[in-house]
Formats: sequence, C-alpha cells, structure tokens
Amino acid sequence: MCGIIGINSYKPVSSAIINSLKKLEYRGYDSAGIATLSSGLINEIKSEGRVDNLEKNSLVKKMEGTIGIGHVRWATHGIPSSLNAHPHSSQNVSVVHNGIIENSTILKKFLIGKGHKFKSQTDTEVIVHLITEHLKKENIINSIKKTLKLLHGSFALGIIFKDQPDLIIGARRGSPLAVGYGPNENYLGSDSYALKSMTNKITYLNDGEFCVIKKDLVEFFDEKGTKINKKVLELSSENQKYDKGDYKHFMAKEIDEQPMSIKNGIKEYLDTANNDINIFNFPWKIENISSVILIGCGTAYHSCLMAKYWFEELTSLDVSVDIASEFRYRKNRFKKDSLYIFVSQSGETADTYAALDLCNKNGMKTCGVVNVIESSIARDSKFVLPIHCGTEIGVASTKAFLGQMLILYILSLKLGLIRGDINKKKFSQKLKDLKVLPELVSKTLLIDNKIQTTSSTFIEAKGSMFLGRGFSYPIALEGALKLKELSYVHAEGYPAGEMKHGPLALIEEGMPVVVLAPRDNYYKKTISNMQEVIARGAKVLLITNKSKDEIVSENIWETIEVETTNEDLLPFLLTIPLQKLAYYSALKKGYDIDKPRNLAKSVTVE
Ligand code: AGP
Repeated sequence: MCGIIGINSYKPVSSAIINSLKKLEYRGYDSAGIATLSSGLINEIKSEGRVDNLEKNSLVKKMEGTIGIGHVRWATHGIPSSLNAHPHSSQNVSVVHNGIIENSTILKKFLIGKGHKFKSQTDTEVIVHLITEHLKKENIINSIKKTLKLLHGSFALGIIFKDQPDLIIGARRGSPLAVGYGPNENYLGSDSYALKSMTNKITYLNDGEFCVIKKDLVEFFDEKGTKINKKVLELSSENQKYDKGDYKHFMAKEIDEQPMSIKNGIKEYLDTANNDINIFNFPWKIENISSVILIGCGTAYHSCLMAKYWFEELTSLDVSVDIASEFRYRKNRFKKDSLYIFVSQSGETADTYAALDLCNKNGMKTCGVVNVIESSIARDSKFVLPIHCGTEIGVASTKAFLGQMLILYILSLKLGLIRGDINKKKFSQKLKDLKVLPELVSKTLLIDNKIQTTSSTFIEAKGSMFLGRGFSYPIALEGALKLKELSYVHAEGYPAGEMKHGPLALIEEGMPVVVLAPRDNYYKKTISNMQEVIARGAKVLLITNKSKDEIVSENIWETIEVETTNEDLLPFLLTIPLQKLAYYSALKKGYDIDKPRNLAKSVTVE
C-alpha cells in the first residue's frame, strides 16, 4: 500500500531517491516525501499528490546528504496531505513506514504523557517518538528492539538518525522489505522493482528481522538482536528493465503482451517432446490429495473461481474457493489431505499471505501461484508455481489474470491425468488446443472498434451488469471489477441464472448489460436470460464465440465474437474484450489508468 526507499551512499542521494519513488508509485500515490541527513541535521520535504509534485519543489534538487529515505503513501490513518505524508521526523529520528500500527492510539497517549508533541494524524508518527524516547537511555540497536516489541500490527520501516551519518535501519513485520547492494552504497526498498534500476543483488528480510545498512556493509539481526547471515539473490535480467515503450499506459501494453505471456507460461510447463505437462518437484504424492482449496483476493480470487470449474470438470477432487480476507478469520477445519493454493500476482497481498501463514502454522500442504517469484508468498509456500508473465505494473491486473488462469488450468489437467480422472487421449487433445491459445488471444485482441464505441454507454450509465453462467460467471465478475476499478462507475457481475431472484428489478430502459454467452453447455440458458433483460429495456452487449450457428435473438445492441476453441479455453478469450472495455471507458473519462484512485498494486495491509 505504500512504498519506501532508503539509500546510504558516498554521493548525494536526493535524485536517486526521487527516481526510486517514481518506480514505487504503483504501490501508493496520494502523497510523497524525502528526508536526508547532512551536517548533523535531518532535512525533510513532503508534498501531497504524485512524486512529480515533490520533485517540482526546487529545494529537493538542492538537498545535500549522502544518506536518505523516501516514501510514497496510500493513506490508511489520516487524510492524504503533506502533513501526513512520510517521512515523519523528530529532531533525532526520521521514519518511513509501510503497514498499519494497530495500537498507535494507546502508544500516542503514553508518549504525549511523556511530553512528546505530535504533528500528524498518522499511526506512523508513534514510531518516531518511541525511538526518540528509548534513545534517551539506550543505544540504537536496543532502542530499535524495544520499539519494535511495543508495536502491534504490520510494518516495513526505513529509519535514519541525526547522530548517525552512516547508518539506515530497516525492519520488517508483515510488509515486504528488501536490501540492495551497490558499489560503495547500499539500499533499502519495499520491493525489488524499486531497487532493480540500481542493482540486481537483493536480500529479503523475513518477519521479525531488522538490518543496519552502511555504505560498505549490511548487517542483519533477528528479533532478539542476534546477528544472522542472509542469502544474496541475483535478480533475473528478464525483469531488469520494464517501461511503457510506445504505449500510453502500462495496462495497454500488458493487455497486448498476453499472447506472449501465455506462450511463456505454456513453454515453462509443457513437455512437448513427451506431450506432457511438467510440474517439477511436486512435493506430495497426488494420491494423498483428496481436495483443493483455492484462496485469493480480487482478480486473483476470480482466477480461483475459474479454476474451480476446471478442477470439477477435469478431476474428481473436492474443490472449494475462498476470499483470503474471509478465510483467514473463518473457523477452518484444516485437513491433511487438502492442498491449499494461494493465488497472488504480487505475492505480497496481506490477506492472502495471512491465509498462507495460517495454513503453514497448521502444517498444511501450501502451494503459491504467483508472478513475483521473490515475493513473500512465493518464499513461504511449500511449493510454488510461477506464472511467468513478466512484470505487471498496471494496478488493474490483466496479463497476470490470464497467467493465473493458465497455471491453474495446467495444474487441473495434470492432476486429472495422474489421478486417472481423464485419459491420455482427452489430455493430449486439450494440450493440443492449449498450444493454439496464444494465437487465438492475438486474434481476439484485434477486436477493438466496437468496444471503443460501446464504452461511452457504460460510462454514461448509472450502472451496468455483467452476466454469465458456468465458465463465464467468474469472467463476468472480473469484467465488472475491471470497469469499476478503472472508470469508477458501478458495475455488477452476476450469475445469469440468478437475475430473476431480485437483480432483474435493476434493469431499466437503456441500461448496459454485458452477456457472456459462448457456445458452451450453458449457451441456450444464457440466451434466455439475455432475452429477459432485453425485454425490460437493457442494452445488451453480447460476447460470444464465432460459430456457423446464427444467434437466435433480436434487439441485441452489439455482438462481439471471439475466436473459437474448446470450451475450457473460452474464458481466456472472453476476458480480452472486457479488459479493453474497462480500458477505453477509463480513457474516455480521462482517469489515470495505471494508478486508479484509492487503489494500489499490492495491498500489503489488511
Ligand atoms: C486487480 O485488477 C485488482 N487491482 C486487485 O483486485 C488485485 O487482483 C488483488 O488486490 C490481489 O492482488 P494480488 O494478485 O497481487 O494478490
């Protein structure tokens, strides 16, 4: 939800910090700030809005100091304002924070009682004053240890000290934090993306750990303050540099990258020589798995819902799906023979990570389906299935959604074959169809004009519905989410068969309704549902697949036909027009497509 950066260098750091903050803006962007240490003084500059606003302050370029911290904020406590922006500083300490301090109110009362004066409405400021209070009697390491012990909730911290010209402290609990290593300088950042323009050598902190970052040395400690050694990872060059190229928005680029990202995913898992699927090093005996529980948030949850249909179709496993923020507090009955699958693009979503942590603590079989392979969920799952779709920057997930679905589909095929639920002939035919999917996605991407023209109706209406049955139902939910999060208009995904149980009352003259009705087993029933809404005045945008059979219905406002393939794979193609519908709607409204209001790419707080 927020992004933090720290740099300890032999040269002035303000411009490097600003550049890193720009890369972190996808994590939060309602305010930003920087603090550097020079001639024994902490200099702090903060601004509301984007990092550009901060950079426009002429004092930033003139900031001296070879040690500094920076922050981009997604507000949790206290309105977005320069006062509430981070860093938060006292005379002796300056802090940037990602996370939520749940006991900040009590701590604030205690500190005010000790004479501390607070300037902001944030929870973070209590950290500044707690460290300042402990420094009266303790050295730095003990002050940090004592402060962290008092904090309830989650944090990734970057801290500099007035009297320490060569030291940044980093600390992590529940929010991601990484250290980067450069030539005569070292870095601290929320994730590798912020650091990769400066280094490809990264170390990730685990919960409870903290670190001391000097120009030429980094030391790591566990929560007791015992020094520990940690691995240095080399980032893959594939993600080293990633920019918009000729595209206006990352989202547009990422939509168009889908044929390639699907191709990459297939290549990673398909054993073409043996016409098989490779799930390397699967750590459990398949016969010891009798059920699958799929867990995720938002778009990742929709890919879990989609997978439920495939698992039911291709295996005899019991399958259930849960929203991570619900699962983590539910009275779960953990079962040893269940496989718990956690789906997450960023691998840092707090609710999904908490659900994983709960399952790990109960000794469950945990598998992560993630895009960021250095992420917390990837590191702490007992088994990982990377989706290999490359860096995704647009807050609204597109290629990662198709990537998640692809891996879950591949997994359901493999488990179905090994368990004998599908025979080799059926398995081979599905693999054959799968290999053509990238080309079909390419062709479906060419559908554009109709989507651009229909998008105006969606943004002018007071709301819209997205309807689907069976395989199309999760896609209807995803299409509605995309439109909501990009164009800020209400849209609701709903099972087409459920409309008559209430929501039909919403339908009125001219209301735009997307109906997903591919020629699958549900086609006829969905067309009937479509006629029910047309009869009540809805403007239906029908999305189906090409077929020689005529569509038997009148008064359809617009029809879009995606390419045809086996029905398992139609959801991939149905998604494309919905991604574009959301994109063009937001474009027409002039909204920031890559950074929609109130959202962040990785929701690392609950
Ligand atoms: C996707 O369009 C949304 N921005 C959001 O729902 C996202 O899918 C969700 O926050 C989960 O993120 P994750 O995949 O990184 O865990």
